[in-house]
Amino acid sequence: RAATERAIGSFRSGSPVLIHDADDREGETDLIYPAGAVTPEAVSRLRNDAGGLVCVALSASVAGRLDLPFVQETLDHPAAEDHDLAYDDRSSFSLTVNHRNTRTGITDADRALTITALSEAAGEPDPGAFAETFRAPGHVHLLRAAEGLLSEREGHTEFGVALAEAADLPPAVVVCEMLDDHTGGALSPADARAYAQRHDLPYLEGRDLRAGLGR
Ligand code: 5RP
Ligand code: ZN
Ligand code: CA
Ligand code: ZN
Repeated sequence: RAATERAIGSFRSGSPVLIHDADDREGETDLIYPAGAVTPEAVSRLRNDAGGLVCVALSASVAGRLDLPFVQETLDHPAAEDHDLAYDDRSSFSLTVNHRNTRTGITDADRALTITALSEAAGEPDPGAFAETFRAPGHVHLLRAAEGLLSEREGHTEFGVALAEAADLPPAVVVCEMLDDHTGGALSPADARAYAQRHDLPYLEGRDLRAGLGR
């Protein structure tokens, strides 16, 4: 599909892509960047224009090599016993991290440093180097993609990692939900599409991306 090819090319060049999962899932559109392309200006855009939670999704194989768990499985607390999500079997949350060369970890510069270093870590996963580079907990949420990627789960975590793989980039992508500043709810697909058009960015429905990637 032409739209998927355009999105892959644009993503490869470091530009963000918007992906709407499905009306019968979260019904949310995430603004997604390759982690390696994230600058302080991009973090500013994520928190101002998207407004959700800024997360970095990693492939299952990278997360496995770095021993990054699904955090729910590691918590010994009654709140974590029954995860009980309305839209999927489980969330993809792993640890939160900061680069060790950050102070508070939340500023645009701090998060951009953490995020670009995560891309490097995903390109050459080494558990020792990871612990030397990052501290946990921190201000960037890591997400762990399903082993079978889109054949197993169709979340933004998997759509983002699949897009990075198709673009031959390290499997580390930033995802952040687009929220509506007027209603506080998810930005509607029509408004997300209009934002994409205004900024000349690709907007894709998850099912079309999956078909376009042939997965
Ligand atoms: C973390 C989330 C977002 O929905 C994000 O898109 C990743 O989750 P998923 O893979 O379930 O869509 O909940 O902010
Ligand atoms: Zn979510
Ligand atoms: Ca806003
Ligand atoms: Zn999502």
